[in-house]
Amino acid sequence: MVPFRYPPRLSLARLPTPLQPLDRLSEQLGGPRIWVKRDDLSECAVSGNKVRKLEFTLARALEQGSDTLITCGGVQSNHCRAAALLGARLGLKTHLLLRRETPEDAPLNGTPDGNLFLDYLAGAEVSLYDKKDYQKNLSSLFEHWSEHYRRQGGRPYTIPTGASDGTGVWGYIACVAELLEDFRQAGIAPASIIHATGSGGTQAGLSVGAALHGLETRVTGIAVCDDAGYFQRKVHDDIALWRSLYDVPLNSHDLHVQVDDRFVGPGYGRADQEVFATIREIAALEGLLLDPVYTGKAFHGMLEKIRAGEFAGESDLVFIHTGGIFGLMAQRGFVSIS
Ligand SMILES: Cc1ncc(COP(=O)(O)O)c(C=O)c1O
Repeated sequence: MVPFRYPPRLSLARLPTPLQPLDRLSEQLGGPRIWVKRDDLSECAVSGNKVRKLEFTLARALEQGSDTLITCGGVQSNHCRAAALLGARLGLKTHLLLRRETPEDAPLNGTPDGNLFLDYLAGAEVSLYDKKDYQKNLSSLFEHWSEHYRRQGGRPYTIPTGASDGTGVWGYIACVAELLEDFRQAGIAPASIIHATGSGGTQAGLSVGAALHGLETRVTGIAVCDDAGYFQRKVHDDIALWRSLYDVPLNSHDLHVQVDDRFVGPGYGRADQEVFATIREIAALEGLLLDPVYTGKAFHGMLEKIRAGEFAGESDLVFIHTGGIFGLMAQRGFVSIS
């Protein structure tokens, strides 16, 4: 193991999260034994992977004396919901810059749903932008709002999409230490870990964490948008930023970043009926809720990979449940329950 020290961290998540076997599903598939790392239980309303990253990101924001968080994402961003609630918990103002994929996404006169509803409930300031504007102007939007708060005497702290940056990487480095203890307690040595990848930070943390801890398990991110090339670049950029901020002697040869982009389907935030069918099947079989944007897509991809024999000969397989439950509520109209 490479010696390293964690930077300052807030205690915001309920950790460690459980590692739970899905025995009925595993039996149905005829192996390997599937385990779920329940990061959806990392908190209640703040549930999911983002709170792990935000423990480090928000520690840095407080260290710098910030009083306002500015962050961004899609209208149903789990990260933004977690930031809004944690901002409220820490007494910080939170301003969310949200991208509407389509005008129906968040009708300006309609009732907000899912994560967006919780953003408002948490008292966040919300600015909605159409996709084209958002993609073209995101960095100037951050500058504009930062300047706005500075002019009022505030101290804004900006957090990129998904808190996936050099600091956020620590969240899943720490999760690897937790997983090692989980594996020891369960008496397993899984050959593979699978998770959804959306802005790359979870994958960056897991990859660095595995390298630092000498974990041999193969970690594969299942892309929910973009392609493998994009994620290879994004994850390596986050890791490069992490290296520039923290002095940890990591050997690049120990870093493995594997992305499977075959299950993106119709694009970010949209899923095929097969994914909704998997969501329904797993809820009824195992009492486990998945969401259509991240975990449902990744879990469905994992099942397809198992059925294709990609894990043949492996006894244990770990799926990291990164949360997203409120996104399922926003898309309940697509789930057939008849
Ligand atoms: C529920 C959920 N799972 C997975 C991810 C992907 O994590 P990351 O953004 O770190 O790639 C996200 C966010 O993008 C998410 O909200």
